Amino acid sequence: MSAVVETHNLTKRYHDKLAVNTLNLVVQEGEIFGFLGPNGAGKTTTILMLLGLTEPTSGRASVCGFDPTHEPLEVKRRVGYLPENPGFYEDLSARENLLYMARLNRIPEDEASRRTSEVLEQVGLSEDGRRLVREYSRGMKQRLGIAEVLVKNPSAVILDEPTLGIDPDGAIQVLELIKGLNREHRLTVMLSSHQLQQVQQICNRVGIIVKGRLIVQGEMDELGRAILKGRQWNFLLDVGGGTDGLENDLRAINGVDEIEKRTHGLFLRCTRDVRPDVVSLVARKNLPLLQLRSEDPTLEEIYLKYFREA
Ligand SMILES: Nc1ncnc2c1ncn2[C@@H]1O[C@H](COP(=O)(O)OP(=O)(O)OP(=O)(O)O)[C@@H](O)[C@H]1O
Ligand SMILES: [Mg+2]
Repeated sequence: MSAVVETHNLTKRYHDKLAVNTLNLVVQEGEIFGFLGPNGAGKTTTILMLLGLTEPTSGRASVCGFDPTHEPLEVKRRVGYLPENPGFYEDLSARENLLYMARLNRIPEDEASRRTSEVLEQVGLSEDGRRLVREYSRGMKQRLGIAEVLVKNPSAVILDEPTLGIDPDGAIQVLELIKGLNREHRLTVMLSSHQLQQVQQICNRVGIIVKGRLIVQGEMDELGRAILKGRQWNFLLDVGGGTDGLENDLRAINGVDEIEKRTHGLFLRCTRDVRPDVVSLVARKNLPLLQLRSEDPTLEEIYLKYFREA
């Protein structure tokens, strides 16, 4: 695998504020990378540096093999960019906006027209292509923004908060669209977000940035292991009520660290896979084993933990 985006100690200082602090980040070809962090963490500043739209104070970046500071046009030719607040010509139709964007990218006229229809179809706006953008809803505009990014047939896209301001259903649709583009066209995607639950479903890997520093990056399950450290095993046990006598016996099992009551059963935090012991204990006590499943930490838990530690 080769890296589409790579940064080495990338740093941006605004006056006395370190907006991005020695960032080392890798986005691999063909993946969806979630760049996560709370408001003001430095996501947009990082993205602007990756596109050569602002200069790093120190450190460097490589995007599609080019240095955005010195070769911004090479980067722009290959990478589609959706800004935080994409702007359109409101008095033009969606189709006209796309044609204009195609011209800016020096796409020949007949190809531009074909590409425009193609991307409108891809983002589900074929029917509305001739309507004025001023009549578009926020969600439609976001789709149009993605269509604009796709017009020049980029090999990678950088999307700054692609679900910002869209209702949950619309956000899911936008994310599904991104996932489909990644799957069908092997489009490399880097997207920023502070909405964890949403992006968790589509990202192969994530990086979490807090106060300008990347505090962790990796695959979801790697992050899970890192966060749990010694306690890698979580299980949910449901024996259909009557758990009082069971709790003490469970605690006696070597490796069971903590037990929490949940609406449906008991949540066990363990230092090893205790399932065989749990199953034989439940059988010995003649209880019905309704459920025993391993529970991986959600990104939300991971994110909150790292935020607290930051
Ligand atoms: N042009 C600028 N001049 C001075 N400070 C800036 C500038 N742009 C950003 N900052 C500061 O840098 C920090 C990082 O901002 P940035 O916009 O990169 O965060 P973000 O992660 O994109 O946040 P959000 O989720 O709100 O979009 C913030 O403290 C911000 O106030
Ligand atoms: Mg931002």
